[in-house]
This record gives sequence, C-alpha cells and structure tokens, in this order.
Amino acid sequence: MNYQDRQVLITGGLGFIGSNLAIRLCEMGAQVTIVDPSIPGCGANLFNIEPVRGQVSLIPASISDRDAIEAAIGDCPVIFNLAGEISHLHSMNFPERDLEINTLSQLRFLLAVSQIAPGARVVYAGTRQVYGAPDYLPVDEKHPIKPVDFNGVHKYAATMYHSMLSDAGQLDAVVLRLTNVYGPRMALDVPCQGFLATYLRKLLTGRQLEIFGDGRQLRDPMYVDDAVQAMLLAGAAGTLPSRSYNVGGPEPLSLASIASTGSHLAGVAPPRFCEFPDDRKRIDIGSYYTDCTRIREEFGWVPETKFEDGFERTLAYYQSNLSRYLDLAQPNPPCKLAQHYSAQAAPKSHRVPA
Ligand SMILES: NC(=O)c1ccc[n+]([C@@H]2O[C@H](COP(=O)([O-])OP(=O)(O)OC[C@H]3O[C@@H](n4cnc5c(N)ncnc54)[C@H](O)[C@@H]3O)[C@@H](O)[C@H]2O)c1
Repeated sequence: MNYQDRQVLITGGLGFIGSNLAIRLCEMGAQVTIVDPSIPGCGANLFNIEPVRGQVSLIPASISDRDAIEAAIGDCPVIFNLAGEISHLHSMNFPERDLEINTLSQLRFLLAVSQIAPGARVVYAGTRQVYGAPDYLPVDEKHPIKPVDFNGVHKYAATMYHSMLSDAGQLDAVVLRLTNVYGPRMALDVPCQGFLATYLRKLLTGRQLEIFGDGRQLRDPMYVDDAVQAMLLAGAAGTLPSRSYNVGGPEPLSLASIASTGSHLAGVAPPRFCEFPDDRKRIDIGSYYTDCTRIREEFGWVPETKFEDGFERTLAYYQSNLSRYLDLAQPNPPCKLAQHYSAQAAPKSHRVPA
C-alpha cells in the first residue's frame, strides 16, 4: 500500500474520521487536499488537522460546489468521501437538512466526479445504520436493508449512487459500512453524535454515566486507526473484488461493559442504569455487531485495537486538548442546529423532543 507522493482528496476532512485519515496519509507521504465547509452541527474542527497544518490544502467549500472543487477532483485519482452528517437524532428532527447533506450533495458530487475524473476510485464512508435492527448477528453484507431513521435512508441512497455509477463504468467506488467509530478528534461539543461521544464528554468532565435500559445491547466499537486502515486498503486496492464491505470492531461488547470500562479508565464512579428515554428508544436498533469476513478475506484487514487500549488512548488525547473540543463552562452543550434550521417536514410522530 503505497501513498507516497499520491494526490488524494478527502471530503469531510475536518471531521473526526477524515482528519485522522488526513494525518495518516501525510505521514505516508501523500499530497492531501481536504474539501470541507465546516457544516454547522457536524464534527468539523480546524484543530483536528493541527499536526499537518501547512502540509494539506484546504478548500472550505461544499462537495456540491462544483466550481470550487473541479480542479481538485481532476488532480486526485483517489477520493476518500467522508462528507456527511452522522447524527440519527439530527436526521429525525431536521430530515431535509440530512437529505441535503447526505444525499443531494453526494449526488451532485458524484456526478461531477464521474464527468471530471471518470473511473476515479472513491472510498465512501457508509454506515451500519442502513441495516436497521438486525434480523441476525453478526451482520454480514447480505443482511436486508431496513433503516430505522432518515440518516440510514439518506446514507443508503448515497451508497446506491456510488454503486450505480460504478456499475455504469463511470466511477470505481467502494463503500465501507462502518460500525460505531471512536477515538481522538471526535466532536464532543455537538450533542447527539452517538453514545460514545456522549460517554466521553461526561467522563472527561468527571460525571457518572447513565445506561439506558438494561445495558445488554451489544455494539462493536472500532478504534479510528482501524477504520483509517480499512479506508487506506480500499483506496489502494487494484481491481476491487466487491463494492461494499462491513467494517466493525474486534469484539461485541455490551453497552454496560463499554460504560464500565470507560468509567474505570477515566476514574469515574461506575455507571448507573436508568429508563430508556422515548426519543432514543424509537430509533434504537437493539444489538448490533459486524461480520467482517469479507473485508478480512479480500483485503486482509482485521480490527487490531482492543476497546480498553483504544479508549485509554482516546482519553489521553482529550485530557491534553480538552479545551479545543469542549467549552468547559458548558459541559452539556445545547443543540446549535435549532438556531440554523427550524423543525422541518418530518411527521410529528418522527420528531424527537429537544
Ligand atoms: N463516526 C462514526 O461512528 C461513523 C459510523 C458510520 C459511518 N460514519 C460516516 O463517516 C463519515 C465521517 O464521519 P465523522 O464521524 O468523521 O463525522 P464528522 O461530523 O466528524 O465529520 C463529517 C465532516 O463532513 C463535513 N461535511 C458535511 N457536509 C459536507 C459537504 N457538503 N461538503 C464537504 N464536507 C461536508 C462536515 O463539515 C464534517 O467536518 C460520515 O459520512 C459518516 O456517516 C461515521
């Protein structure tokens, strides 16, 4: 896998996973261009790329702004497409916003790529959320698609654009359906970005965790370096054996054990159990963990970082840089989206109380 002197484009590169990818690619000698307009409510943070500032080119534009990114697309035969909104709750409260970010922008972007750089390799950050509440575990790529929220629906549409254009010979795209990813550079100041960010925000400010329900639901959290490695392999592969891969963590863990391990590592009192709030219950998917057989067999990828190790590294990163990620005077950050968007066309029953 050689990225030395290769030109690569990262969409969403100011966010959590994209910035970790950018740093790794710079270490490998790649010429990195980031396209990211810092969409309010997503995880963009300029500090994320501090270690490589001066080494990466930043285009502060949307992927849907063809004029702004045309030259960059033409220069970069490998594109890591991470632009997106990850919050399931945001998608339920602001479904048209989610549609715009996760679907319409992607359509515009992929049409531009297919015209400017036909056949370009595009590695897309898909999500396990498209599978909804699993029919069986572990979840492989043949599992039915039945998302339970707008985010899953919109991400799936974007997934289909990638595969449709690839089947038509206009792109050479591969979709990695990621499980819950954690690690340095997650946004802590954006509420509703998933339980791992919430756990981190609380633990780093010395607060006891709350577990909704009995905590027996399973997840397979994946350390960000493992997600980055999967993306690098997909970007560098010659002929792609498959167009989509499930990418998960090293082992299934219950939410209770994730919370207990995190609390122990952070030196905070053990978690307490509480009732599942209605808004979360509606989009909860029960247990999920990934069958990584395909990506292991076809790319030789396995998740290497145990949860304890990854979480310890993550805590250490934030303990050194916390003020860059959280306003300590406001450890429960409000949802800033309401200032930018009013609740949109979601049926009332789908809206999540503020
Ligand atoms: N973090 C996870 O656990 C996880 C799990 C599954 C899938 N994913 C996918 O991985 C990708 C990256 O997730 P993340 O956790 O780094 O999120 P993030 O919110 O930290 O970063 C996303 C970035 O995309 C940017 N962005 C949004 N719309 C854009 C546009 N139109 N043009 C350019 N940039 C745009 C945002 O400004 C932000 O910096 C997302 O597509 C997400 O759906 C993440």
